[in-house]
Amino acid sequence: MEKILVLDFGGQYNQLIARRVREHRVYAEIRSYRTPIDEIRAAGYRGIIFTGGPNSVYDPASPHYDREILSLGVPVLGICYGCQLMAWLEGGEIASAGSISEYGKVEMCRVESPLFTGIPEKSVCWMSHTDYVKTVPAGFSVIGTTEHCPAAAIADEERRLYGVQFHPEVMHTEFGREMLANFLFRVCRCAGDWTMEDFVRASVEKYKKELAGKKVLCALSGGVDSSVAAVLLHRAIGDGLVCVFVDHGLLRKDEGDIVERTFREKFDMNIIRVNAGDRFLSKLAGVTEPERKRKIIGEEFIRVFEEEAKKIGHVHVLVQGTIYPDVVESGVGEAATIKSHHNVGGLPSVIDFDEIVEPLRTLFKDEVRAAGLELGIPYELVWRQPFPGPGLAIRILGEITREKLDTLRECDAIFREEIVDAGLERATKQYFAVLTDSRTVGVMGDARTYGYTVALRAVDTDDFMTADWSRLPYDVLAKASNRITNEVKNVSRVVYDITSKPPATVEWE
Ligand code: XMP
Repeated sequence: MEKILVLDFGGQYNQLIARRVREHRVYAEIRSYRTPIDEIRAAGYRGIIFTGGPNSVYDPASPHYDREILSLGVPVLGICYGCQLMAWLEGGEIASAGSISEYGKVEMCRVESPLFTGIPEKSVCWMSHTDYVKTVPAGFSVIGTTEHCPAAAIADEERRLYGVQFHPEVMHTEFGREMLANFLFRVCRCAGDWTMEDFVRASVEKYKKELAGKKVLCALSGGVDSSVAAVLLHRAIGDGLVCVFVDHGLLRKDEGDIVERTFREKFDMNIIRVNAGDRFLSKLAGVTEPERKRKIIGEEFIRVFEEEAKKIGHVHVLVQGTIYPDVVESGVGEAATIKSHHNVGGLPSVIDFDEIVEPLRTLFKDEVRAAGLELGIPYELVWRQPFPGPGLAIRILGEITREKLDTLRECDAIFREEIVDAGLERATKQYFAVLTDSRTVGVMGDARTYGYTVALRAVDTDDFMTADWSRLPYDVLAKASNRITNEVKNVSRVVYDITSKPPATVEWE
């Protein structure tokens, strides 16, 4: 399989670079700059991209690489720090731009080069740097300039080495997509034939061989990742796969049944549903503090699973729905931010198993969705909005009771229905109802009511690290509000949450 290496020097956008390459149907993988050169040579990459990074090449502590990488005969594209590093390794001079460092959109003038085929002579590119290449190394020439950066793009075309000071992977670079395509197809001579169908077929073949005759266990949550992982493995090994679905009673309206029906009936999978709602509710009785709720649910989930696992006995393989961003964020990558969440993170400690298989660990979220569709998983499930592990428990402020759960389920179902009816389910990334702990006075018919206040929340976001509240049309909100107050008992007021993240979070607890 043809593949591109994204060599990670700690830049902010390495995942984006890999994404952009894959959008051209060329498989890309991110590896640390600590990867030994022999491994890189042996892997047979069609091209290498050096990422950006926060450092200066002259800082001895900054990430460097063996100069030999430029002589493997494999094309290299250096981006930002990667460009400086390439120039520096080849004997060029790097300097600090000081007060005229560029940040943001700038105009670049290019000369003829395979990297710039089909791109206008002047175009906008996106810069974020302090250092720059002051003197290009022998054998290199300048192929692009900006007002303050005399070597905004450099190349040794004979050796197929390219460097750009700007970031072609960010959308603010007007022709960034075309530049990357030029690198992949004109310079690296990639075919661009990587498809989800290939991925699914190759994975099924691989697991058919590797897992034949083994007992494989998967914790199914109904979420996109675990569903796709389970269906993929089921296609490979059929009844060798056992799925355990713990229904903690904190799911949305009808959700548990839909998950069970989909996997049992549509895919004929061996699925054990554990209805543990009562257990979770009794553990949560009287608990109002958000972190306590989360902790109790996490612990109880593991306990339920452990009991189930004991019944199953020894399994050979545990399946995890880990996806690529989880892999990179949990320490493989060089970037500073590390996120620590996984719904089933505690499971390995309570299951008697030999090995873990992560069939989606090379895929990004949208690729997981594409694989899901390829496997015949229903659209609604593949495009399911994120739903937190602790479920509705963190959308009911204060104590959780069965009555409150029922009330919230109805409100939430109505709101979701209205969003879908208005065709907004892909436009807004997450949308749900929250049951607040306050009651307010209302009037219905001629009578006074004193019911709950329900809050609706809808957010737009790329990564859920930051989010803005969705500007939903008033008539959609009006209809949802009318229906909720008319159809759901005990609700006398509906409000819309207009707080972004930060300072708020997406969930209320
Ligand atoms: P916050 O509330 O942190 O939410 O702004 C960001 C995103 O994460 C989801 N979320 C969770 N997902 N387990 C999960 O799997 C959790 O405990 C959890 N808490 C929040 C939230 O729904 C949103 O998509």
